[in-house]
Amino acid sequence: MKTIKLNNGSEMPIVGLGTWQATDEEVETAINTALEAGYRHIDTAYVYMNEAPIGRALKKWLDSGKVKREELFIVTKLPNFGNHPDRVEKYIKRSLAALQLDYLDLYLVHHPCGLVEREGDMLPRDESGALLVDKETDIISVWKAMEKLVDAGLTRAIGLSNFNSNQIKRITDSARIVPANLQVELHVYFQQRELVAFCHALDISVCAYAPIGSPGLQSFVKMIGDDPEMIPKLSPLTEPVVCKLAEKYNKTPAQVLLRHIIQRDIAVIPKSANPQRIKQNIDIFDFELSNEEMEELNALDKGHKGRLFGEHMLKGINEHPEYPYRAPY
Ligand SMILES: NC(=O)c1ccc[n+]([C@@H]2O[C@H](COP(=O)([O-])OP(=O)(O)OC[C@H]3O[C@@H](n4cnc5c(N)ncnc54)[C@H](OP(=O)(O)O)[C@@H]3O)[C@@H](O)[C@H]2O)c1
Repeated sequence: MKTIKLNNGSEMPIVGLGTWQATDEEVETAINTALEAGYRHIDTAYVYMNEAPIGRALKKWLDSGKVKREELFIVTKLPNFGNHPDRVEKYIKRSLAALQLDYLDLYLVHHPCGLVEREGDMLPRDESGALLVDKETDIISVWKAMEKLVDAGLTRAIGLSNFNSNQIKRITDSARIVPANLQVELHVYFQQRELVAFCHALDISVCAYAPIGSPGLQSFVKMIGDDPEMIPKLSPLTEPVVCKLAEKYNKTPAQVLLRHIIQRDIAVIPKSANPQRIKQNIDIFDFELSNEEMEELNALDKGHKGRLFGEHMLKGINEHPEYPYRAPY
């Protein structure tokens, strides 16, 4: 498995398994299938509410000796309502307990916007359905608390998710430990070229979420009471250029989309709960897109118009002073 070297010296497998929206039952089976297929990088988050079943599956593998802890790369995230220096350690310890691990390989601040903490409520909202944002969020003091987790040996690396370049700059300007990774939405219609170049120049690796266009997003948006009609109608999986290349290489459209991203030295974490698709999504190392084909795919970038996880989601979050998506990149 190809890896990306992080600025703390560790190696992140360039393909990982995403687990958002995977139920307890699905995720345990998915982890087993993924580990059998050669995945060693698993991405989860406190708010996905599936760390415990992931932990159960990992424990079986570790106890059986089929895999060693140091061969795994486990990532989870500080929830928005943990964006306060006094809460950071509590949430990583909860995640570690659920995952049945002593340390993480990477712990990310899930989102720059803090939310009000209401025990057990993953999306605290007011009567109108707007999220209860904590406008006092201080991303610098949150980062300082993240640095202490590395000192305490609770995680090997720390990073950010959904932060823009201005916010990353503010953090790196005062950081003792530079973020090792930025996880953001990134796919063929939203290629994030400026943000990736900005991060790579600072030796911050990038990981793409929604790398095949998050076809499950509509159902999530509906489930949380937001309007799925507001999501741009974009389907990378049915994009003609992608389908043409899939046919040429006898690969699936998803495999072409993933290959396009990893050839830019960006990690991908496609989510699947389907055994066949889990195996396909990591089977992308036996073909290579030519420079011309990369250019053809690069030309499909729609800039901000390609963003799927935008203002239409999580009503009220854009009231937060750290709302990240108004910056140019
Ligand atoms: N940091 C953040 O804020 C953030 C936000 C979103 C996501 N993430 C992370 O990134 C991961 C990936 O993002 P995502 O789940 O939104 O989107 P994604 O990986 O682009 O798409 C996942 C969806 O595609 C389907 N799928 C998977 N492989 C496929 C294939 N080969 N062909 C056709 N359909 C396929 C899956 O359904 P089946 O399960 O039925 O295969 C699922 O509905 C998440 O799971 C999560 O770990 C992070």
